[in-house]
Amino acid sequence: MITLTTTKPAAKEVELELADIQGNILTAYGRLGFPKARYLVLSFDKKKAPQAREFVNALRPKITTALRWPSSKDIPTGAVVAERPMVALNVAFTFDGLLALGVSIRTLRGMPDDFIEGMRARRTILGDDTPENPVEEWDPVWNPERAEGTVHMLVTLNARMREDGTGLPVPELDVMTSWIQDLCARSGGAVRILKGHGGPDAEYQDLSALTQDGIPCAKEHFGYTDGISDPVFDGQYPDGYAKSVAVGGGATDGQGNWRPLATGEFLLGWPDEAQEIPGAAMPLDFSRNGTFIAYRKIAQDVGAFNAWVEDAAAKLKVLWDLSSHEEAKETLLAKMAGRWTDGVPLAVAPDYRSWLSFNQEFPADSKDPAVLAERGRRLVDFLYQGDETGSRCPVTAHIRRANTRDMLDPEAANKDPKSRMGSALNNRRRILRRGLPFGGNNGTPGEKGIVMLAVCASLQRQFEFVQQQWINYGLDFNAGNDTCPIIGNHGEDAKFVIAADPKTGKPPFIAARLKQFVRTRGGDYFFVPSMTALRMIAMGVTDPT
Ligand code: HEM
Repeated sequence: MITLTTTKPAAKEVELELADIQGNILTAYGRLGFPKARYLVLSFDKKKAPQAREFVNALRPKITTALRWPSSKDIPTGAVVAERPMVALNVAFTFDGLLALGVSIRTLRGMPDDFIEGMRARRTILGDDTPENPVEEWDPVWNPERAEGTVHMLVTLNARMREDGTGLPVPELDVMTSWIQDLCARSGGAVRILKGHGGPDAEYQDLSALTQDGIPCAKEHFGYTDGISDPVFDGQYPDGYAKSVAVGGGATDGQGNWRPLATGEFLLGWPDEAQEIPGAAMPLDFSRNGTFIAYRKIAQDVGAFNAWVEDAAAKLKVLWDLSSHEEAKETLLAKMAGRWTDGVPLAVAPDYRSWLSFNQEFPADSKDPAVLAERGRRLVDFLYQGDETGSRCPVTAHIRRANTRDMLDPEAANKDPKSRMGSALNNRRRILRRGLPFGGNNGTPGEKGIVMLAVCASLQRQFEFVQQQWINYGLDFNAGNDTCPIIGNHGEDAKFVIAADPKTGKPPFIAARLKQFVRTRGGDYFFVPSMTALRMIAMGVTDPT
């Protein structure tokens, strides 16, 4: 018997060509069992473009695509299941790199200005040209005056860890590194590995998740849990799974409903949040399923950060009459980030006591999957509605400015909730954060920091806007020139304000003389081609005319 239904068919989900998309766009490897990495930066000899293309072609079959492998996190794989690699290999190119490989001018002229100019030329926008964060301090590899060649290609190797308790990467990482070194050595000078990543003689940027009791953890060097919140977009996950993870990660209407963001915010050739497919380098197959990466190496001055926090916490304890230095310090750290050091958001647990209760109700080490799932949801499922003045979460806290959620809703004050626009203005400013820390655990010698790979379809509209307007400026939040208390540029007058709390009668706390806690060590803008585009690049046939 045939049954007819009158229900409207469900909107068709976006189906991405996973085998055509590089794996590091959809997946944050660091969080999914690849806690070790090496990033290599290469330079081509323009006069030997055919040999350089041969090199690219040799790498092609080993590249990790977005095809899913079975996951312990119960993420559905989709129709085609890939084998989980020991080392994930991905590549990307600068504008100069594409030019050196002989990609046609007809194609390259369609590339956006931000990418053509590169990160160094855009330093004024990014705040990398100030006395406290000078471009002169960039590592030699990113510094044309000191580099051995122009940066053309990025090769990222993300590796699993050995299971023998040594904390070392799997041996396949050395094998893969030697293979690439060997290919370069045999290229007759067409491809060279550039040295100068900070350490002496380093041929690559070495990266590793920090560890606790020898086990990789999600901490960054200032002590916060990182890698909690990441945008979720249409097609990223199959079989309706995206709908559940979109809660807290996607776009919100400001009334508690969430949906995945438009694919075109993160992949070229797809409709974006403006429901347009923006212009891109032609032919369309060259751009489609590709994207851009802002590679940003950031050094963290852990000593200066800790010293400043200790000092400011002592003042906060007195002003707010808190019971212990520990409470004052944890409260200050939380107010700076917008999350307590274990990741619990201030929007959910606004004071020390409610943080402790939250952790009692939803312990991070619970054996009950339902408790863990609920904890996970609460860590991301929140809005800033009702906290306009920032008495719970300061309007200038790191996460509140980096992902403003519903904070900039122009209709926020409208009494009719149906008129709210939720995250509409924020939806076009999202970035996927990839990358890992460098420098090893605190206490070991050497500089510490992170390499962040900010992935987005428009470097200017997404990454640069967040960095310039929201990290290094405060006007959108009615906070004048105040920059991010953790990663902003802190000139002599830099301050961080914790608003008064009318409910508890706590006065405002103005933390003055913020030190410069982070410094850029270099980076560049890279195009991440689809597998189709990579084949075109390697064959030297980008212009079909
Ligand atoms: C040393 C440098 C940095 C440190 C220590 C740092 C630290 C953190 C921490 C602890 C979180 C909260 C964890 C989470 O929500 O996943 C976070 C979130 C975030 N950070 Fe950073 N960050 C750094 C650099 C940057 C930069 C340069 C940007 C962008 C230009 C950025 C953008 C973001 C975004 C978008 C979020 C997610 C916010 C959310 O969705 O609620 N961060 N960061």
